[in-house]
Amino acid sequence: MSNANVYPPSAEFSAQAYVPSLEAYRALYDKAKENPEEFWGALAREQLHWFEPFDQVFEWNPPFVKWFSGGKTNASYNCLDRHLSTARKNKVAILWEGEPGDQRMISYQELHRLVCRFANVLKARGLQAGDRAIIYMPMVPELPVAMLACARLGITHSVVFGGFSAEALKARIQDLEAQIVITADGGWRRGREIRLKDAVDEALRECPSVRDCIVYKRTGGHVQMQAGRDFWWHELEESASETCPATPLDSEHPLFVLYTSGTTGKPKGILHTTAGYLLQTTMTMKWVFDLKEEDTYWCTADIGWVTGHSYIVYGPLSAGATTLMYEGAPDYPAFDRFWRIVEKYRVNIFYTSPTAIRALLRQGDHWPNQHDLSSLRLLGSVGEPINPAAWEWYHRVIGKGRCPIVDTWWQTETGAILIAPMPGAVPLKPGSGTLPMPGILPEIVDLDGKPVGENKEGFLVIQRPWPSMLRTIWRDPQRYKEQYWGKVSGVYFTGDAARRDSDGYYWILGRVDDVMNVSGHRLSTMEVESALVRHPAVAEAAVVGKPHEITGQAVCCFVTLKKGDYDHEALGKELRQWVAHEIGAFARPEEIRFTEALPKTRSGKIMRRLLREIVTSHTVTGDVTTLEDMGVITKLAAQHDED
Ligand code: PRX
Repeated sequence: MSNANVYPPSAEFSAQAYVPSLEAYRALYDKAKENPEEFWGALAREQLHWFEPFDQVFEWNPPFVKWFSGGKTNASYNCLDRHLSTARKNKVAILWEGEPGDQRMISYQELHRLVCRFANVLKARGLQAGDRAIIYMPMVPELPVAMLACARLGITHSVVFGGFSAEALKARIQDLEAQIVITADGGWRRGREIRLKDAVDEALRECPSVRDCIVYKRTGGHVQMQAGRDFWWHELEESASETCPATPLDSEHPLFVLYTSGTTGKPKGILHTTAGYLLQTTMTMKWVFDLKEEDTYWCTADIGWVTGHSYIVYGPLSAGATTLMYEGAPDYPAFDRFWRIVEKYRVNIFYTSPTAIRALLRQGDHWPNQHDLSSLRLLGSVGEPINPAAWEWYHRVIGKGRCPIVDTWWQTETGAILIAPMPGAVPLKPGSGTLPMPGILPEIVDLDGKPVGENKEGFLVIQRPWPSMLRTIWRDPQRYKEQYWGKVSGVYFTGDAARRDSDGYYWILGRVDDVMNVSGHRLSTMEVESALVRHPAVAEAAVVGKPHEITGQAVCCFVTLKKGDYDHEALGKELRQWVAHEIGAFARPEEIRFTEALPKTRSGKIMRRLLREIVTSHTVTGDVTTLEDMGVITKLAAQHDED
């Protein structure tokens, strides 16, 4: 191994692991590479329930792929029904803790009952396969219940993160032309009620496609119910039967659409389909999380993001796990909430984000040290690069030096983890996602598609389609083609820069496009810019990600104003609040800088690259030959020195 800081798996961990050695990993990897049809075909037959067998493993008509054509299956059936004839029927499927401390333990059998009843509610409202449902809920068990009820009937769901504003919600409902919105009165966050139904009411004023809105009562806060449109979940459910067979669906039936930020102001509806998605999320539960029957597994993400879809709901339930869900904030009522939960439920596998790790690390070791964390056997990280200092702390203070850390690289578009260590097989290097999963052929190339070679920085691309790959962008196949398959010919363009070291390990360096990563949440610079220019005082705006100690990046906005007299301090506050209202609180800019002009090329394009340099290094060293007015840069850089 080329690097001094290498952590090989312990003999004890390897001995019990699903993939116990580097040789075993390599054998699996080579098998998938040499014969993907046989590899994935055998796994699909063995790991999923089929109502009708598939006749082709994959059909690749670049850039469109179909997996397991001809087969009929159902994600809800795979996550529930098939476990009921096994010892898992009374195993806890969802272990839930609300922020106020309330708890629920829902067995597979009970979850099946809840899902069937809610599916019957949806049926009674006239919904059927091919329809679309928006789900806008807090982290309560009824959120996965709603997802699995949709999946049961072939209704394509789109979960919108509860932190998104009414505006953002409206745009998603309209793009999806959803027939129904499933929501709640609210949810708890840091002791305060997040009022979801109010946001839905605001959004629905301009969403003619929506016929019904079903409201789950979580907080008991007052809500307006519009007669004929709004119904209480518990009232509709009262008379619903507990029997609802899962509909056999085509392998390629659209399971869900999840909106994510791209390089324009308009979010992209990433479409995932049924069988391939489910197979790869199930397999990575075993390969990466080394899931065992007796494990208590906790992924701290919100289900509104892809991590929650794949690794709280579909992957774990399909694999028959006990998946823990927590409603609230990691620092409520104190900085030991995560560790308190780990101790209380004897969590074995813990999966979180570098932002959470950095935020908790800063509060000191005494918070985790107050708790017995000895149940932990594996730790995971996702969403952004993890810096070595945070890695070392996670390893030493949380894992007590005993637990491997799986740094998992993937994206909303990839559906499942593509690069990560198999923890019993692959020696770890802090900050590296290590090696690709079986069936995944990454490469690091220049814009002509030529591999850049060892230790050189380039674009991370994936050379072959994989089962859980996005199928298209909802109603925009052209954008799908251009965005992912049009940048470098013949390969999937991830949008990330990376390098590969002499051991073949991948090091992700961050986005190469105008996408920011704030607390592991993806946000487009253009989305924030569009929000800003909707404000009456703003003439132009340019937004860049600025390095941030805890959240990885923070939103930094350069704004020019229309003519007038402004109190800059008050307006700065107002604009930050404005962005939070237009997109969601997580997008609230850290900084608004007013300027007389923005640096532009002679053709009028804003040069964000220069702004990025100003916020990162406070100077501009790159090429400025296309810049129209060098004075702008001098002023902006000087402005920083005054700060
Ligand atoms: O830049 C990469 C970063 O997050 C992006 C994907 O964001 P999203 O679709 O929101 O999905 C996040 C959760 C899967 C990637 O393009 N990213 C994700 N995981 C890692 C990462 N960067 C470095 N290391 C990771 N483990």
